[in-house]
Amino acid sequence: RIIVPSALAAALLLAVPITADAAGRGPSPRAGATPGAPGIGDSYYPASGNGGYDVSHYDLRLTYQPATDLLEGTATILATTTQDLSRFNLDLGLRAGEVRVNGRVAAFAASGEHELEITPAAPLKKDTPISVVVRYAGKPSEFKVGGWSAWQRTPDGGVAAQEPDAAAWWFPSNDHPRDKATFDVSVRVPDGTQAISNGVLVSQSSKLGWTRYNWRSDKPQATYLATLAIGRFDITTDVTANGLPVLNAYSKDLGANAGAARASVERSTEVAEWLESVFGPYPFSALGGYVPNVPSGFALETQTRPFYSPRQFANGSNVSVVVHELAHQWYGDSVSVADWKDIWINEGFARYSQWLWSEKEDEGTARELADYTYASRPADDPFWTVKPGDPGADDQFHAAVYDRGALALQALRDEIGDADFFAILKGWPKEHAYGNAHVSDFVRYAERVSGKPLAGLFDTWLYQPVKPGARAAAAAGL
Ligand code: ARG
Ligand code: ZN
Repeated sequence: RIIVPSALAAALLLAVPITADAAGRGPSPRAGATPGAPGIGDSYYPASGNGGYDVSHYDLRLTYQPATDLLEGTATILATTTQDLSRFNLDLGLRAGEVRVNGRVAAFAASGEHELEITPAAPLKKDTPISVVVRYAGKPSEFKVGGWSAWQRTPDGGVAAQEPDAAAWWFPSNDHPRDKATFDVSVRVPDGTQAISNGVLVSQSSKLGWTRYNWRSDKPQATYLATLAIGRFDITTDVTANGLPVLNAYSKDLGANAGAARASVERSTEVAEWLESVFGPYPFSALGGYVPNVPSGFALETQTRPFYSPRQFANGSNVSVVVHELAHQWYGDSVSVADWKDIWINEGFARYSQWLWSEKEDEGTARELADYTYASRPADDPFWTVKPGDPGADDQFHAAVYDRGALALQALRDEIGDADFFAILKGWPKEHAYGNAHVSDFVRYAERVSGKPLAGLFDTWLYQPVKPGARAAAAAGL
């Protein structure tokens, strides 16, 4: 007996005019086409990303002139519509000059701080592959959001590397980790200058005083993990035992930090090999790191080739930061946040992997570092008011997301034991490879693997704005 729910029955009745349309009579199904949402629906950043389509590939063909900071070129975006679309947005800060959709000239207008509104010549039908070509130009350092620029200009070039946003400074995109795509990045720079990006350097060639670098990142990549660095670099290359191409790049202008930078980043292959023993197979087709001569102090897990500020190496070698950024290749890049409020599934694990590396190097065990971190923050330290499971946009990269985030993992390890804990560290990147996940997915996954209820433990460590007390500390063996 088949039960037809009333909603389905209503849908069947409504379907009648569509049958008429198929026969060429009723209204076009595209008559109902509506604009794609100007944001993908992130809890912290409502304007990030867009609705109505899903990108599969970005092809960027660019020219950059360090002397003037002018970046110009063409982005070709391959996508599939997810609704009948009358109009859709891309996120872009630079100026668009011409837009084509499926080869036809499309109307466009800039709106908001970094929205490009595109109206194709005819509405687009749901579930259809589309191509979008955007010609654009601008000086990335002049584009600001809230007075702030993600583009760091250097004496010999510039760098796009930031989180949660860097893409709008150099290419039009659906700028949210939920929409990953493959990338071909081709950049022309004056001879004697290099352009560094993600993945494999497929080819380079010179003519007319310019050198073109063609990079390919062939696994799904979030837009903020796409990077571009232009400058004068010393480049080292190698191949791993598994046949993976390695390419590291160091600004020729690192001064006193040059030796320590190289002594750290050159260990990427060794670090990645060790991380494979903890997290399982490395998820991408290339490996490396780059150190441009920027004044900033942070590092970022740009896919396959992390960005390191020279200041990371101001006190000597710092392999720990290499461990952190390479750990993100599994935790952050292959398995990405579904929403920016899920940042703990990146930073908690990258920090904990640094503790595991310390243990392996005989510089203090993960438990000792957890004890130290717990004890070094008194209960009235505002550190404990930040909830790693939902820190808020302003505190997205607060120390609590990292350190208390790693303490949460030590608490989990103490609760379920090493066998299940390490099975989870390896299983999670496999379960969600090249995808997205929420903190709640991790909690469910850990419960499934361990067979234990863990909601209380994670609530204590990730969601309460107070220092977990003596009871929790005792349960965690602290
Ligand atoms: N995911 C990066 C890291 O932990 C954080 C970058 C934060 N951005 C910043 N400007 N501090 O390595
Ligand atoms: Zn990190």
